[in-house]
Amino acid sequence: MTIGILKEPTVESRVSLLPESAATLVAKGFTLLVEQGAGEKAFGSDEAYIQAGAQVRQREETLKGADLVLSINMPQPADIAFLSGKTLIGIFQPLYHPDLMQRLAEAGVTVFSLDMLPRTSRAQSMDVLSSQANIAGYKAVILAAARYSRYFPMLMTAAGSISPAKVLILGAGVAGLQAIATARRLGAVVEVFDTRPAVKEEVMSLGARFVEVEGAADASAAGGYAIEQSSEFQARQRQKIAESIAKADIVITTAQIPGKKAPVLVTAEMIAQMRKGSVIIDLAAASGGNTEYTRNNETVEQQGVSIIGAADLAATLPSDASKLYGKNIMNFLPLITGKDGALNLDFNDELVKGSCIAHDGGIVHERVRELI
Ligand code: NAI
Repeated sequence: MTIGILKEPTVESRVSLLPESAATLVAKGFTLLVEQGAGEKAFGSDEAYIQAGAQVRQREETLKGADLVLSINMPQPADIAFLSGKTLIGIFQPLYHPDLMQRLAEAGVTVFSLDMLPRTSRAQSMDVLSSQANIAGYKAVILAAARYSRYFPMLMTAAGSISPAKVLILGAGVAGLQAIATARRLGAVVEVFDTRPAVKEEVMSLGARFVEVEGAADASAAGGYAIEQSSEFQARQRQKIAESIAKADIVITTAQIPGKKAPVLVTAEMIAQMRKGSVIIDLAAASGGNTEYTRNNETVEQQGVSIIGAADLAATLPSDASKLYGKNIMNFLPLITGKDGALNLDFNDELVKGSCIAHDGGIVHERVRELI
C-alpha cells in the first residue's frame, strides 16, 4: 500500500507523520509519498523524509499516487476529486461538518476521523484528542504565566514576600488535568470544577482543590464525554464559579460537549469581579468558548482582564504534537490494514465502526448520518 502525507493548510504548523515514524512504515513494507515541505514547520525536512526511505512529491502526485492519505486538517476542496476510491485519515470534526463528510462520501472516499474514536482503554494509544489536548493544557498554563504580570510561585525574598497565583480550571478532562499539573509545578494554588464527579480523585491527587456542585446529570452513558446540564444545575454552578473566579488570577477553561456549542461558564459580570491583570485562557474557543467575551485566536481585553481564545495550542508545539499524532496514526493503521498492508475493515470492531465516517459511497457513521 502507498501512503501519502499531505502538507497542512498555511495556518497549521503540524504534520501528520514525522520522518522518524515514516522510517518505521517503510521498514514494514509501505511506500511513502510526502508532499514537498509537509514537515517543514515541525522540523521534519524533505531530506529527512528521503533518508527515511520516503519519496517527496508535489501535492497532486502525492494525492494521485497514494492509496491512503494522512492529514490532520480537512484537505482542500480541489483535492476531493483525487481522493476518490482512497482512504483519508485525519481530525475532521464530522459532527460540526456533516455536509463536508457527505461530499467526501459521494466522491467515494473512505474517511476515518480519529476524533471520533470511542474513549476506551484499547483506543488510548490512538487517541488524538488526548495527545493534542495534553499539549494544549500544558501550553495554556505557560501562555498564562507569560502574560500574567505577577509570579506563579510563592516567594520569600529579602525584598518582600510574594503570594502564589490562584489558578481556576474549568473542566478536568485531558487538557484540564495537564493544566492542573503544570500550574502546580509552577507553584500556583489550583481550584477545579467539572460536571463529572469521577474526576475528583484525579484532581486531588494532582494537589488541586475540587469544587463540587450537586446534581450534575449522569454522563456515564456518554462514553466518557460530558453532556448538557439542566438549567438549575447551570445556575448553581454559575453561583459557585462566581465565588471562585472573584479570587482567581488565572482561569483556564476547557469545557466542551462533543457536537454542541461549548457552555458559557464565565459571564461578563464574573469577569468584572476579577482583579486587573488577570488572564483567562479559553481552550474551548473553537466551539464558541466558555466565556461571554471569547473570540477564537484573539485576545480580548475587558476591564483589565485578558481573555485569550486559544483552541489550537497543540500546534504551538509542532514537533511534539506531530510526533505524538504520528504515533497515534501508527497505532491506528494495524486496525484497518491486513498482514499484506492492504485495507481490511472489520466493522464489528467498535474502534473501526466508531471512527469510520464514510465508506462505499455513503455515510456509515450513525451520529453523522442523523445530522444529514
Ligand atoms: P472534553 O475536552 O470533551 O471536555 C473537557 C472537560 O470539560 C471534561 O472533563 C468535561 O466533563 C468538562 N465539562 C463539560 N461541560 C462542563 C461544564 N458545564 N462545567 C464544567 N466542566 C465541564 O474532555 P476530554 O479531555 O476529551 O475527556 C473526556 C473524557 O474522556 C474524560 O473522562 C477522559 O478521562 C476520558 N478519556 C478517555 C480516554 C480513553 O479511555 N481512550 C482517552 C481520553 C479521555
